[in-house]
Amino acid sequence: MRVLVTAGPTREALDPVRYLTNRSSGKMGYAMAAAFAEAGHRVLLISGPTQLDVPDGVDFLPIETAQEMYEAVQRHIGRMDAAVFAAAVADYRAATVSEQKIKKAGEILTLELVKTPDTLGSVRGEFGFTGTLVGFAAETQNLEVNAREKLKRKGCDLVIANDVSKPGIGFDSDRNEVLMVFPEHTEALPEDEKHHLAPRLVREIETIAAARQSS
Ligand code: PMT
Repeated sequence: MRVLVTAGPTREALDPVRYLTNRSSGKMGYAMAAAFAEAGHRVLLISGPTQLDVPDGVDFLPIETAQEMYEAVQRHIGRMDAAVFAAAVADYRAATVSEQKIKKAGEILTLELVKTPDTLGSVRGEFGFTGTLVGFAAETQNLEVNAREKLKRKGCDLVIANDVSKPGIGFDSDRNEVLMVFPEHTEALPEDEKHHLAPRLVREIETIAAARQSS
């Protein structure tokens, strides 16, 4: 398969020296990209800024902002058989980016934020993608219910949900513990190293893709 994987955080500038971001290290998405490549698939990894090396045999497209992520996915999704969205994309950016460094003034500084495009949410409708679609869901409560809502709303075949409030898993950790939320059922995978979980998730996605092709 040709597979697109998104990974890492995005950065949304406030001024020339500051930005809004999150704690994503990219480890989960890079592990997915590596596992797809090791299984013989052609992989395009679209990633926000991380400290990680690009896995062997993976095509790489670096981006910085949510808007750049959206545009990169829009440009490449058409020739993909499957797409996996593991990036932690900023939901909001500064309404205006200050050209000069924002000066300290007063006790309270109010930032005006505007919504960024929802890339995964645009893939089925706006981009017309008909391949296998897998999202991640980072939740701090009601893991399965919230992930199932994302599965339906974003038209995914599978949502891989992680509880990012649990210490030792999820953001910026080598380990994760996930729920695989399918349209008809849910399956929990025990906590493991991300690079052990990834090949297991890849096999699941291969099965979904094979079933979609034969139907
Ligand atoms: O990078 P690590 O440190 O290894 O951490 C891994 C992880 C916790 C980041 C990863 O496992 C994970 O959960 N990734 C999704 C994080 C997230 O932003 O989840 P969400 O529930 O807010 O978004 C749901 C889905 O929509 C995700 O697939 C996300 O990539 C996608 N999305 C969200 C917002 C947006 N503007 N565009 C998107 O495409």
